[in-house]
Amino acid sequence: MIRMTLAEIAECTGGRVVNAEPGLEVTGGVEYDSRKIGPGGLFVAFEGEKVDGHLFAGKAVAAGAAAVLSTRDTGEPGVVVAEPLAALAALASAVVGRLGELTVVGLTGSSGKTTTKDYIGQLLSRLGPTIAPAGSLNNELGFPYTVLQATTETRFLVLEMGARGIGHIRYLTEIARPQVGVVLNVGAAHLGEFGSVEGTARAKGELVEALPESGVAILNADDPLVAGMAPRTRARVLLVGEAERAAVRATDVVVDGAGRPSYRLHWDGKTGNVRLRVAGRHQVANTLAAAGVALSLGMSAEDVAEALGEVGIVSGRRMDVFTRPDGVTVIDDSYNANPSSTTAALHALAAMGAGRRTTAVLGYMAELGPHERSGHEEVGRVAAELGVDRLVAVAPEAGPIVDGAQAVEGWTGQALRAADQAAAIEILEGDLRDGDVVLVKGSRYRTWDVVDALRPEEESR
Ligand SMILES: Nc1ncnc2c1ncn2[C@@H]1O[C@H](COP(=O)(O)OP(=O)(O)OP(=O)(O)O)[C@@H](O)[C@H]1O
Ligand SMILES: [Mg+2]
Repeated sequence: MIRMTLAEIAECTGGRVVNAEPGLEVTGGVEYDSRKIGPGGLFVAFEGEKVDGHLFAGKAVAAGAAAVLSTRDTGEPGVVVAEPLAALAALASAVVGRLGELTVVGLTGSSGKTTTKDYIGQLLSRLGPTIAPAGSLNNELGFPYTVLQATTETRFLVLEMGARGIGHIRYLTEIARPQVGVVLNVGAAHLGEFGSVEGTARAKGELVEALPESGVAILNADDPLVAGMAPRTRARVLLVGEAERAAVRATDVVVDGAGRPSYRLHWDGKTGNVRLRVAGRHQVANTLAAAGVALSLGMSAEDVAEALGEVGIVSGRRMDVFTRPDGVTVIDDSYNANPSSTTAALHALAAMGAGRRTTAVLGYMAELGPHERSGHEEVGRVAAELGVDRLVAVAPEAGPIVDGAQAVEGWTGQALRAADQAAAIEILEGDLRDGDVVLVKGSRYRTWDVVDALRPEEESR
């Protein structure tokens, strides 16, 4: 954070200073986990369901915190506010307001926000000090928390924005108004909340509505619901994609045997060759969006093409590919899953599995609402159509994946139902061989034990 006195913090959060002089300064970072607090920091006490942060106020101060932001007086120097999330938002907003040199980049989409945020972070770091922390900090807590990492040194602030309903993204844009807004895609994620992809598009489009006239809206030319957001913004629209109308365009896409795409990047009459180190055909779209951001912020097409060849996976469990000493290649894409991201991962498995035996270990996909059964059947169908050799559905809720695969005529692969992760591990352990490619994917924690069991000892987390 920037240096601020308790009086200033109290003013912007509507709180009151307790147990300290109003002139006391916070000079360090803002944290809500007392173990992370550094010297001069501000500890935010949340009353969680399991843990009451107020009980850690003393520990945070002992660890160096200058003050505590809380809803009740902890006896430590601090500011007492009515509602800590609203206070954090107000503080974040005040900090952004004081950082004149800062360019805020916001991005949203159904799949690939964290991945692309990491790519944007890696590109913009070449232009100046950039904040784009690892992980998926995209909600009403993670967003202001990320904003508060900005200092007077920061030139670029890259913010992931999630939406679980109408108005959520608008709320985030009011905390820190982006100059550059990226919408990646509108897919079947969180359909349970939105009811339809159109509902999702309405919510995601709030990002481009918030952009100023001087801003840039980076929209996926290949996704009609995203490209269709163009009339909703006052900002300049930059279409990115493979379609001819895209201003930042990829042509001649080729995916190599390791699943890594290469393409020709076109922009403003110039072209460059991009050779990605990351796996998955869908990384073309993600890296084009990142390219759109870097190009609109002044990076040359040549530099963008070169820099894209260097970008890697920063946040774990997303297309993290590793080959074990026994020759088994594992694709850890287990962070989360929905039908579109699972389809993308299955395509990567098929590309990497040419001439090798392929196994897809797929867990339950949460939040599909009324599309729950059809969503699971659909990915089973895709797996079978891509010719996956073995399919393991983890847990009974994932069972329709097997049904979907078995309904594909002519599929000669094997479909197995594992009662739980331990059963899936057992299936794999007895039968993995040199050359195998194994994809592991499911919503959140649902396949993490499987992939951790596949990781060689020295690599395990
Ligand atoms: N463009 C894309 N299309 C489809 N799937 C993608 C795309 N980009 C990434 N993925 C896959 O989607 C999953 C989630 O990726 P990531 O964490 O980057 O997305 P996210 O939008 O941040 O998700 P969340 O909503 O959980 O924050 C990963 O399995 C990843 O490999
Ligand atoms: Mg994310």
